[in-house]
Amino acid sequence: MREMFDRIAGRYELLNTLMTGGLNRVWNRVVISEAGVRPGSRVLDLACGTGSLTRDLARRAGPEGHVLGVDFSREMLAAARRRPLSNVEYRVGDATNLDGVLNDVPGAESGAFDAATIAYGARNIPNLDALFREMSRAVRPGGRVVCLEIARPSGRVPALFYGLWFDRVVPWLGAKVSGDSWAYSYLPTSVKEFVAPEDLAGIMERNGLRNIQWRRLAGGIITLHSGTKGSRGARGPGVE
Ligand SMILES: C[S@@+](CC[C@H](N)C(=O)[O-])C[C@H]1O[C@@H](n2cnc3c(N)ncnc32)[C@H](O)[C@@H]1O
Repeated sequence: MREMFDRIAGRYELLNTLMTGGLNRVWNRVVISEAGVRPGSRVLDLACGTGSLTRDLARRAGPEGHVLGVDFSREMLAAARRRPLSNVEYRVGDATNLDGVLNDVPGAESGAFDAATIAYGARNIPNLDALFREMSRAVRPGGRVVCLEIARPSGRVPALFYGLWFDRVVPWLGAKVSGDSWAYSYLPTSVKEFVAPEDLAGIMERNGLRNIQWRRLAGGIITLHSGTKGSRGARGPGVE
């Protein structure tokens, strides 16, 4: 998985923009609003890739705020670092085990963040319990955890359009632009194999998050989940 992202890093953002018709930036704004990010916020962006969402979070957090982007692909992070912002820092790390990152980065200890986000990353992570346990651990009580992901729409017309776009156009376009046909055939497969939105909400809840809400965007091809860390965090029932 890491090697696949290393290989496609150079063309990743261009392809993302082409595949979503530029809507990825609009969805970034929805994530930022759902995460309650405002000037001065401290945000952890997991599986940050080339930093598209990370930079938008940082612009919203402003000079008083700070965003830490974490990804396990060195090439994705190298691309992210080519577009630096003064209030953004990147670290190599595994989203399912943040020990190294949270211990090593000053001011990034457990509970130091106002929000933790992940966009198009959860689908690639087999251990979702570990992912949300770590997101929950990273934020302060009352902090927000937000997950944006690609989904399969349920309606007949959106499903038809989706099938055409994701099963045919995306693998073709991905192979042409990135030169990696495997990576962009993997994309629709990973969406099909990802947990149902209701189940993802359950996973968030059993890992210390409360008031879980989720909704579909863009005719159902995107899901947005959010939750708030209870006062007892990842263990126990938690109280708001
Ligand atoms: C589809 S990209 C999403 C990038 C970015 N969040 C965005 O909005 O464009 C998925 C990213 O997840 C990263 N990733 C997958 N599994 C990971 C893990 N266990 N820990 C950290 N990063 C991971 C990959 O390296 C890749 O950069």
